[in-house]
Amino acid sequence: MNTKYELSNIQNISLDEIYTECSGPGGLRLVDFLAKKMGIETGKKLLDAGANRGFPTCYLTKKYNTFTIAIDPWDDRTSQRPQVDYITENASKWNVADRLIAMKLALPETFFANGTFDYVYSTTTLEMIRTLEGEEGYRNAVKEIFRVLKPGGIFGLAEPMHLETEIPEDLIPYLSQESFAWKDCFKSLSHTLEAIYAAGFEVVEADYAPDANLWWQEYAAHDPYCKLNPDEDPKTLAVDNGRWTSFGYIVARKPLGIIK
Ligand SMILES: C[S@@+](CC[C@H](N)C(=O)[O-])C[C@H]1O[C@@H](n2cnc3c(N)ncnc32)[C@H](O)[C@@H]1O
Repeated sequence: MNTKYELSNIQNISLDEIYTECSGPGGLRLVDFLAKKMGIETGKKLLDAGANRGFPTCYLTKKYNTFTIAIDPWDDRTSQRPQVDYITENASKWNVADRLIAMKLALPETFFANGTFDYVYSTTTLEMIRTLEGEEGYRNAVKEIFRVLKPGGIFGLAEPMHLETEIPEDLIPYLSQESFAWKDCFKSLSHTLEAIYAAGFEVVEADYAPDANLWWQEYAAHDPYCKLNPDEDPKTLAVDNGRWTSFGYIVARKPLGIIK
């Protein structure tokens, strides 16, 4: 059996390895945090939207024994290999290949039937769609997630968000990166909630993650691109020092009685 990762051994995986396999702040701490808030039950159908290399997807699938579909449309920025290939390899290393399928698909065109999933999990993904497709693209992605959830199904969203405050003047140059500029990508929790309500969701819980600053610090110290480029995201986070950049989460339910 090709099982590299066991739940009993999770604390032995280094932060360097976790942040190489995950993409964004929080690593497996974020996965545990959001899964608990979502109340994921064993044996249910789960969609991970924007799964990247699927490390969190595999961890969730193993821990909760879910039947999981992971979607991701992009190729890895260094190797140019499709992310879905990494997901499939990771599924084998986690010994969950019998219940995890990776598909090269992009929100909002997933083609799944209405009401397919009990849970949709999505971290550090929709804010990137906002940069590429604008606010309408963000809302279309949320609407698609609503459509593919069963009535009563739960959407767990967690992503970089800014605090409910104006950008401090001195921070503006640091948030104006050439691609995926944080000042355009990141919105506040209240702004994000508008898209969730507009899609028809009931909000179960929404807030800024209490450990947001710790997750960003870990990302700055352990993400391979941060290590290679200390004057980029790590510098921005150091100058920001928790004044504007944060990390928010929303747990939302598709109301019962909705047919579509
Ligand atoms: C920063 S990574 C986040 C990965 C992972 N969810 C995590 O938290 O570690 C964002 C991922 O979103 C994917 N993505 C981009 N556009 C997407 C879309 N329209 N639908 C689904 N995923 C998308 C990218 O391919 C990328 O792998």
